[in-house]
Amino acid sequence: MNPFFPVINGEMHAEGVALSAIATQFGTPCYVYSKAALMAAYHDFDRAFAGRDHLICYAMKANSNLAILNLFAKLGAGFDIVSGGELARVQAAGGDMAKVVFSGVGKSVAEIQAALKVGIKCFNVESASELERINRVAGDMNKVAPISFRVNPNVDAKTHPYISTGLKDNKFGVAYEDALPLYRTARAMPHVKIKGIDYHIGSTVTDIAPFAEAFEKVLDLVDKLEAEGIAISHIDIGGGVGIRYKDETPPTIAEYAAHLLKLMGARKHTILMEPGRALVGSAGILLTQVEYLKHQENRNFAIVDAAMNDLIRPALYQAYHEIVTTKSSSAAQQSYDVVGPVCESSDFLGHGRALALKQGDLLAVMATGAYGSSMSSNYNTRGRVAEVMVDGTKLHLIAQREAPDQIFAREKLLPDA
Ligand code: LLP
Repeated sequence: MNPFFPVINGEMHAEGVALSAIATQFGTPCYVYSKAALMAAYHDFDRAFAGRDHLICYAMKANSNLAILNLFAKLGAGFDIVSGGELARVQAAGGDMAKVVFSGVGKSVAEIQAALKVGIKCFNVESASELERINRVAGDMNKVAPISFRVNPNVDAKTHPYISTGLKDNKFGVAYEDALPLYRTARAMPHVKIKGIDYHIGSTVTDIAPFAEAFEKVLDLVDKLEAEGIAISHIDIGGGVGIRYKDETPPTIAEYAAHLLKLMGARKHTILMEPGRALVGSAGILLTQVEYLKHQENRNFAIVDAAMNDLIRPALYQAYHEIVTTKSSSAAQQSYDVVGPVCESSDFLGHGRALALKQGDLLAVMATGAYGSSMSSNYNTRGRVAEVMVDGTKLHLIAQREAPDQIFAREKLLPDA
C-alpha cells in the first residue's frame, strides 16, 4: 500500500482528499500527485548522500510539469535536461541554471548556445564530434564550456531493451576504451574545461549489482585520469534506481547510496545524480473512469476514459501498472482487459486484471508519476489530461485539461487557390 494514497473509510484518497472528489472537481482522466510523496522521495536521496558534497539533478524527462520542477528547485535540486525545451522549463520554473547538467546524444548548435548563454553547470558529452562542436560553439561565443564525458560502462542493466542505455551497442555515451584518449583531447582544447565524469546504465533497474559494477569501472577510470594529472571535481552516477510496480524489490535509496559511497572509499569528489523515476514515479496516479463494460466470448473489456496517449508505458514497454478500484464494489470480480478509447489494439493499460467493476467506477492506475504525463500525446486528437497536486487537504490544478482548439491552434489551412 502506498501511504500517500491511503484507503480511508473504504475509499482511496490522495493524502487527505478522496479521489471521487477530485474526479468531480476536475473530471477524468486526470493525473493526481501527492506533494508529500514528492518531497519524501527527494529527502530520501538528500539524506542518503548527506555528509558528502552532492547535488540531486532531477531528470525532468520523467515529469516536467512546472509545479513539480518548482517544488524540487525550492528543495535545492538541480536538473538533468536533454533538450532546449527542457532548458526553457528550468527557467520558467525558477530553477538554478548553475545546477543544470545537459545530457543527450544529439545536442544541436542552438541548444549548446542556449545552455552556454545561461551558464549551466555541465555538458554531459556523448561523442567526439559533440566535443568538437561544443569547443567550437563556445569559442565563437568567447566562452569556456564545462564538460563531463558520459562513459558507456558496457554493463547489462537487465532492463527492457528500449530503456537499457549502458551497453556498448546502445547509442549512448563514449565507449569505455575511448574515454581516456578523449579526456586527453579535451584537456588540450581551449574552450572546454573538464569538470567531471558521468554514466547512466538504464532505467527501472532494481538490482544493485549493475550499479555497483558500473560505478567501479568508472572509479577505475577516475583514478587513471588523475594519475595523468586530469583532475575532475564531480562524479555523476546517473539515474535509474527502479521503483516497485508489481513485485520488484528495489534497494532503498539509503542502501543504494551506502553501497556506492563504500566503493568510493577515500575519494573526495562531489557526487551528482540524475534520478527521475525514483523521485516522481510512486508520487502519482492516473485517475480514470469506466465508460463501458464489454463481455465478449473469450474476454471481458473494461473500456476506460484514459488511453495509450495518456499513458504509453504499457503499450510501448509492456510495462505493468497496478490498477485498482478506488472504492470496493458489490459487482462480481472478473478478469478484465483495461483498455482505452484509442483505435488500436495496443491501447491497453492492463491485461487480465481481476477487478469487480460497474460502469462509472473510478480506477487508479498506480505509480504513474514518472513517464506518464511527460510521454503523453494528442493521438486521436485527445487533449492532454488535467493534472492535480494534492497537499494535505488542499487541491491545486497544475495543468489544465487541453481543449480541442488548443490542440490544433498551431495548424494552418492552405491559402485559397
Ligand atoms: N539520466 C539519463 C542520462 C537518462 O537517460 C535517464 C533516463 C535518467 C537520468 C533518468 O532515469 P530514471 O532515474 O528515471 O530511471 N520512458 C521510459 C524510461 C526512459 C528513461 C531514459 N533515460 C519508461 O517509461 O520507463
